[in-house]
Amino acid sequence: MDIRIFESAEKLDLHAAEWFSELINQKPGAVLGLATGSTPIGIYAKLVEQHRSGKVSFAEVTTYNLDEYVGLTPDNDQSYAYYMNQHLFSHVDIPPGNVHLPDGMALDPAAECARYDALLAEHAADVQLLGLGHNGHIGFNEPDEQLSSGTHVVALKEETRQANARFFSSLDEVPKAAYTMGVGSILKAKQILLVVRGSDKAGIVKEALTGPVTTQVPASLLQLHPNVIVLLDQEAGRLL
Ligand code: GLP
Repeated sequence: MDIRIFESAEKLDLHAAEWFSELINQKPGAVLGLATGSTPIGIYAKLVEQHRSGKVSFAEVTTYNLDEYVGLTPDNDQSYAYYMNQHLFSHVDIPPGNVHLPDGMALDPAAECARYDALLAEHAADVQLLGLGHNGHIGFNEPDEQLSSGTHVVALKEETRQANARFFSSLDEVPKAAYTMGVGSILKAKQILLVVRGSDKAGIVKEALTGPVTTQVPASLLQLHPNVIVLLDQEAGRLL
């Protein structure tokens, strides 16, 4: 694994955004696997700046997001569709038809999972951007005795709902389930860019990157991927 530790959030964000811009400039039709949560917000902001200054165009880029809450409409400000528009898509020149997320309002969850998997099977991601949950989850693949390879609906762990409650007005409003790409789909990306910030994640970073490969720490499966870049701030990397 290529682990890069940055002394400031600003430097990490800039490095990641430049890395994405370079990838897109080398391959204008790049396929990006994208993530939500607080971690990538600064990276998307820098990418928007780079787009505005003419350094990168998303005109031929295609994106697939990792996950979406079940039961939230795209215009609900807590949905990941809304988040992606707010932080990236509405500020760049990506054609709306090139953007993909699981549909949180789908009436038939099994059919929605199959639809998303069929799309993912057609287009291997050039890179999959990932954040890391406190319990080692990636996307919404929660620690368990077994993990699913493909897209599935997952019951969110209480700790995950509590961690994400800060974005909602109360814990009750946090959905109890989400669609997520499976670990198999994540590992099919040609490259993985894992980004983690903050002292509170230092322990799980160490476990995920240097501990045993186990479904109880879904991010530890990234150790099996041949091309992983890990971007950490000093706090998240302090136990390595
Ligand atoms: C959320 C998301 C993940 C994200 C993680 C960390 O539950 N589903 O994709 O990486 O938790 O979130 P944050 O970056 O806000 O710490």
